[in-house]
Amino acid sequence: MLYTPPPRDPNAPPVRVNLLSDTQTRPTPAMREAMARAEVGDEQIGDDPTVNLLCERVADLLGKEAAVFMPSGTMCNVAATLVHCRPGDEILAHESAHLIAREGGAHAALGGLQITPLPGADGQFSPDTLRKALHPRTRYQPPQTLLSVEQTANIGGGTIWKKGVLEELVRIAKAAGLATHMDGARLLNACVATGISARAMAEGWDSAWIDFSKGLGAPIGGVLAGSRAFIDEVWRWKQRLGGSMRQAGICAAACVFALDHHVDRLAEDHANARALARGLLQIAGLKVQEPETNLVFFTPDGAGIPGNKMVTELRKRGVLLAMMDGRIRACTHLDVTAAMVEETVSHVREIIRAG
Ligand SMILES: Cc1ncc(COP(=O)(O)O)c(C=O)c1O
Repeated sequence: MLYTPPPRDPNAPPVRVNLLSDTQTRPTPAMREAMARAEVGDEQIGDDPTVNLLCERVADLLGKEAAVFMPSGTMCNVAATLVHCRPGDEILAHESAHLIAREGGAHAALGGLQITPLPGADGQFSPDTLRKALHPRTRYQPPQTLLSVEQTANIGGGTIWKKGVLEELVRIAKAAGLATHMDGARLLNACVATGISARAMAEGWDSAWIDFSKGLGAPIGGVLAGSRAFIDEVWRWKQRLGGSMRQAGICAAACVFALDHHVDRLAEDHANARALARGLLQIAGLKVQEPETNLVFFTPDGAGIPGNKMVTELRKRGVLLAMMDGRIRACTHLDVTAAMVEETVSHVREIIRAG
């Protein structure tokens, strides 16, 4: 299984340290206040002022003409591929991409699309790998119409695609007639970690989106951006998929609040992730991937404990995290403090000591 949280145990203590995912963040009291005060209207007919403000802000942030508010990041990906591609088309993406294994087969089921998985370390493929995967347009092969990358690469360890590599990928894709899509579920983590603006990161990518329900701490929502013509087509799919909303300004207000208050603080999550990795590295036998952002992947097998046993034992001590693709993933976010990180490291040490 791709994603394995610990088994539910009615006798387990309450979760005190929640490292399961940055989707676990709870809206803060100030965010809830902003939601309560939101001016609202009918989003489906374009009349919600707070949604409109959010879309303008994200379009500007990503350097695109227009943007649309979606209930989830998954719907941003699905609507984008449905607009960029036609049935029978081929998408190129990394083999660990969310698009491939975590969206319920939506791209095949709804769009008749196939996704070619590209190999590469840490969730990233090289420009050369992309070049080799391209084929000429013949009557035999599926038309290759879209290149997709995840910034940051989730299962790759929250790694950051370098700006120069992103630029080269765009050049190669464009020369081959492909459109380009950036899954920016954690794009702002990459921006805060590197100091490179979101506009620069997304430059040249035909569509890009950011998720508000992860490290940014909002309860719901992603915003997908692109050219005005692209967004008009996305709106058709949003309607078809049942993603058009009504007084969605309540949720958009949380996202606007997050843009104002929760972007720079992502640096704290990155510092906590580094501290967690440093602490874990001091425990003999643990294999830890150096975090670039807020995700820490590690395997305790070398210390004599299989990953799933470690996850179960940690849960018994009030620490929640999960196995992901054979490794343990710990995710730092708004609701995780430096003290919680220290506590987690000492639990891991004790569990290993107890065998
Ligand atoms: C890289 C990536 N893309 C897309 C998604 C989907 O986002 P959502 O959960 O908002 O549908 C996720 C969620 O974890 C993700 O990590």
